[in-house]
Amino acid sequence: MKISDSMVSAINDQIKAEYDSAYIYLAMSAYFKSAGLDGMAHWMQKQYREEVEHAEKFIDYLYERGARVIIPDVAKPKDNYADALEAFRTAYAHEQYVTSRIYKLVDLAVSEKDYATQSMLQWYVDEQMEEEDNTSSIVSKLEFLGTDKHGIYTVDRELSAR
Ligand SMILES: [Fe+2]
Ligand SMILES: [Fe+2]
Repeated sequence: MKISDSMVSAINDQIKAEYDSAYIYLAMSAYFKSAGLDGMAHWMQKQYREEVEHAEKFIDYLYERGARVIIPDVAKPKDNYADALEAFRTAYAHEQYVTSRIYKLVDLAVSEKDYATQSMLQWYVDEQMEEEDNTSSIVSKLEFLGTDKHGIYTVDRELSAR
């Protein structure tokens, strides 16, 4: 069955959203580096690479369906934050936003009875659950610590192990 034009266009929009996510996390990584939080910088760099992989997975899927891939512009990300908590809160909110985008893609695939796309998207549904969990648990830790620099340093060291 041929994939619909509206589905191809929605997946191309999501490819842009994944590259935008990648850039947001790359900019967070640079911010953490400048703040001397090397572990968090490392964590965000890994997250950047994961987002690029998410984009590539969508690209491969469109190729598999014989559809045209549009390589997008990438928006300039915010590159300064008040502190680690603000950055991770932004990351968590961003992941929630991406989850809502993935759910809309699922809605479209369901309405079109596009079972192949539904099956492909299930991976992203699971991945978003994990990413929301990862970022929200770091937010909770940082909220608990407040301005406790020693504690923040400990979390930084923990995140260097990712
Ligand atoms: Fe992603
Ligand atoms: Fe993500």
